[in-house]
Amino acid sequence: MAASRVIRATRGPLAGEGVVAARPTLDAHRLRADFAVFDELRNGKSLAYLDSASSTQKPGRVLDAMRAFYEHSYANVHRGVYQLAERATEGYEGAREKVRAFVNASSTREIVFTRSTTEALNLVAYAWGLDNLGPGDLVVVTELEHHSNFVPWQYIAQRQGAGFRHIPIDDHGELQLDALERIASEGRVKVVANNLVSNSLGTINPVETLAAWAHEQGAIMVVDAAQAAPHRPLDVQALGCDFLAFSSHKLCGPSGSGALWGRRELLEAMSPFNLGGEMIRSVALDRTSWNELPYKFEAGTPAIAEAVGFGVAIDYVSEVGLEAIAQHEHELTAYALGLLAELPWVETYGPPPERRAGIVSFNVEGVHPHDVAQVLDWEGVAVRAGHHCTQPLMTRLGVAATTRASFYLYSIPDDVDRLVDGLRKVRKSFS
Ligand SMILES: Cc1ncc(COP(=O)(O)O)c(C=O)c1O
Repeated sequence: MAASRVIRATRGPLAGEGVVAARPTLDAHRLRADFAVFDELRNGKSLAYLDSASSTQKPGRVLDAMRAFYEHSYANVHRGVYQLAERATEGYEGAREKVRAFVNASSTREIVFTRSTTEALNLVAYAWGLDNLGPGDLVVVTELEHHSNFVPWQYIAQRQGAGFRHIPIDDHGELQLDALERIASEGRVKVVANNLVSNSLGTINPVETLAAWAHEQGAIMVVDAAQAAPHRPLDVQALGCDFLAFSSHKLCGPSGSGALWGRRELLEAMSPFNLGGEMIRSVALDRTSWNELPYKFEAGTPAIAEAVGFGVAIDYVSEVGLEAIAQHEHELTAYALGLLAELPWVETYGPPPERRAGIVSFNVEGVHPHDVAQVLDWEGVAVRAGHHCTQPLMTRLGVAATTRASFYLYSIPDDVDRLVDGLRKVRKSFS
């Protein structure tokens, strides 16, 4: 198959003084053996799962670890003095250390477990925003933000009487940074919020540049890394941001668990978000004081086994290698965009492959994306159709919805071939 030749061409010279180095590689066919779903046939067809941006499949190792934890190490955390409770706490706190190392944070005190990216971003919008935003201030988001990093800021800005601005995109779906000067002239910029990778277009956004600009304005930089953390190496210190959020379920881990990294001094100064057990130091009839970080932000019993599964998922993707994952997805994306470009009745959106992650959004002329996804499903190809929680972006693109194919470490060129074959059937069915 020609596709394999393109995707598997993984060795080549890198820039710099004639040195020939190996590019990081992964063997997606071998990795698929870790995911039971790929052994199954539906209507005689194996699954071409192209919806990993929505949520990823889970390797057996993550599921086994969660089951073993529930069977042998489960109790509530932080409270018991008996051995089982200590084992549970070690599992939970061990996962926090894995998250810390994964994003290169300087301390586990800066890692707050949340339910998801959405909860992490709401935490910042509420706990930081309610205390720090007011009339004359500006919150700046982007036109390609996921609703999770858009709606909480829009809501808190409106509630506080602050302004709400967006950085527009160009026709490739890339941020128009020349708008920054105008935005800064309209008020005191206090928050800049942006996703590192767009879930709809795959655009890799210039977060370091935005963080530097935000700091020049005296603002904080909030990064939504839901689509970045599972797919490329992350370093919060190198990004220069102030908060960064991501979810376990997009990274081979269970749903119900996510993480917020925040700069310690900011987290220390913030009011709590949820209130109740665990997040307190002491409670009296007339006043309550807050627990130390990160527990101040972890009210109630957390998702314990899910955090353990999250940690094992981090081990898994780290062993596969984040650079290898990024490279693999880049090759699949270039391959897919190349094949789609040969179909004149397909319109694709977003930047060229060298400036995008493993996400391809498109529309088939005259066919609603839901119908596209339905026909593809009959062919065993799972894609997402809709606005992808980015309605302002859809408005900018002038469409109500798109069909989106997204890749991960277990995606193979054959999935792309089946997508394209399926699209030919869509075209035939609707013409
Ligand atoms: C860029 C981006 N941000 C935030 C989210 C929300 O993630 P979650 O549903 O895990 O909270 C998603 C989910 O698709 C996303 O793609």
